[in-house]
Amino acid sequence: MKKAFRVISIILVISIITGITAFAESGYVYDEGTLAAFAPEWEKIQADETVISITPGGEIGEMRFAWLSAENDTDVAFKISENTDMTGAKEVEVKVTDAIDSYNSNKVTVTGLEEGKTYYYSYTENGVWSEAAAFTVQPDDEFTVLFVSDAQIGRSGDETLTEVLIRDTCGWNYTVEKMLKQYPDAAFAISGGDQFQSPDSITQMKAYLSPEKLRSLPVANTIGNHDDDSTLYGDIFNNPNEVFELFASDAGTGYYYSYGDALFITINSNNTSLGDTARVLRKATKAYPDAKWRVVTMHHNPYSASLSDDDFSDERFLFSSLYDRYDIDLVLSGHDHLYSRTEVMFGGKASDGEGTVYVQSSSASGSNYDPLPEETASFIVSAFDVRVPTYTAFEFTDDAIIGTTYRTDSDEIIDTFEVEDNTTEFRLPVFSVIVSMFRTLFSMI
Ligand SMILES: [Fe+2]
Repeated sequence: MKKAFRVISIILVISIITGITAFAESGYVYDEGTLAAFAPEWEKIQADETVISITPGGEIGEMRFAWLSAENDTDVAFKISENTDMTGAKEVEVKVTDAIDSYNSNKVTVTGLEEGKTYYYSYTENGVWSEAAAFTVQPDDEFTVLFVSDAQIGRSGDETLTEVLIRDTCGWNYTVEKMLKQYPDAAFAISGGDQFQSPDSITQMKAYLSPEKLRSLPVANTIGNHDDDSTLYGDIFNNPNEVFELFASDAGTGYYYSYGDALFITINSNNTSLGDTARVLRKATKAYPDAKWRVVTMHHNPYSASLSDDDFSDERFLFSSLYDRYDIDLVLSGHDHLYSRTEVMFGGKASDGEGTVYVQSSSASGSNYDPLPEETASFIVSAFDVRVPTYTAFEFTDDAIIGTTYRTDSDEIIDTFEVEDNTTEFRLPVFSVIVSMFRTLFSMI
């Protein structure tokens, strides 16, 4: 009995220390005044039962929306107009399905939007129309995409405590403000996953969607390990071109969309089935075979700065071999809460020619950071382990994808780089993946 008590005590002490460590790993850059001004907003954020998300459509000209409503709110509607006062508005069909708890999920896909134009939209809660919000369809010849990850609202401490959620949400709002001040005309943003800590928390979901600017900025969200075990992700994000997966998670599947000369493919890296990931890549590249740029987003990074040269992982062994085969130019990830960028990688090694650049974002809210190992792997070119949220802007031009990474406290640039086109000759599908797997395996030995 005494022994059992001692064991329990040791476990308790370890968990307290672990808890303290986890808490200590957060870090915010806003000042006390910003937090004090934000805190009273919390009740308003939580009182809004129908906060809406915007997601990029399958192509320019399409925009997708989703929001929750009470299941007895049977008369849900959405309208869109070219005018601020919503005159001449057109109603768009709302697809209603059963959602988490006692909510319905309402999804709308608007098509036929014109490049360069600003539109206004409004939707109902219990028959009452929301205040109109605006978005602009940014031109797609040259455009900017903002990349963040792991806002992970609730990660910094005991997520049942309101002050913890307020702190993290304030950090996320601050980052959104900062990046849109720098890039007000961004076409859309990509979030690399772990949008919030608990996959079925409506409170945390509302907090993640709380920045006012997210009523206007489409965001392509990714299924992180924290989003995986609940249907809420799929209820609140209306992703385009979802691809059937045999081992899909509760949250959903991979999906793809195009913008200008770029094809964006979002992988659910919680599903480590090679067949499913290959299917998403095949479907996407078949739909847009001529896209100059191929960008993958996946939560887990095969070449994170947290990993060493010989770290074996499914993502590196399986997924990266597929990226070699499919000529992926750029992979965007999160998970390790530490900014890093790699060499151009091919077959598990840095390459002088063809290959893929892997970029990993730090925490977008400041809710948690991972440390940089004392010795970084040979494939890491740039890493930033200061406890400051970061974001990366990607400018898509004819010649290159230009990446610029900022720290949100001083707005200083911490990394700049160019990704070049990585299109090669045709490769034999299965054969080239197997060859890449062997090359990757040997590179780790
Ligand atoms: Fe995370």
